[in-house]
Amino acid sequence: MIKDQVVKCLLCDLSKNRINAVPGNGNITDKVMIIGEAPGKNEDLIGVPFVGSAGKILDKALQEGGLERNDVYITNVVKCRPPNNRVPTDNEIQICTSKYLKNEITLISPKVICILGATALKSLLGFEHMSKYRGKIINVEPHRYFITYHPAATLYNTKLKQVFFEDIHKLSSIIKADTYTMDRYFS
Ligand code: URA
Repeated sequence: MIKDQVVKCLLCDLSKNRINAVPGNGNITDKVMIIGEAPGKNEDLIGVPFVGSAGKILDKALQEGGLERNDVYITNVVKCRPPNNRVPTDNEIQICTSKYLKNEITLISPKVICILGATALKSLLGFEHMSKYRGKIINVEPHRYFITYHPAATLYNTKLKQVFFEDIHKLSSIIKADTYTMDRYFS
């Protein structure tokens, strides 16, 4: 299992400073995958993604959108905490995504992949401009992506937080829609 490989991974230097590697977690049957950047301090301590302050915002936004954490699968671009929460390097991203994230996506085959923040956007789609894609659903075969801010970016910015909550609400409506309606959302 990918989880077993992640917890003992030594493929890059991030493994040297971690307490725990943080594998993806959640429901693989409802086929909604949410992808963040990298574990932070709390995630490193516990070994579960999005359990700190950004996770609380994400949970609340999901709840307000009528979704529970149990309805989605949550993972990160890299599975170990970068020192001082720095942005993961291109090399770390390349190693971790080619070994783990790509396999998670292939195995789960999500109906929608929700990208949280600029690092995940760049890592998955090679796109640089969050503002251009935020709130949009884009079809990059063979997957459909919904793009929004990273919840940590909304911590001290009420405006961004409101937009984030609206985006997650939109995501929730999309995934609750039937296939016909859903197809109309996607370009
Ligand atoms: N930020 C992330 O991108 N991922 C986590 O798991 C926690 C915070």
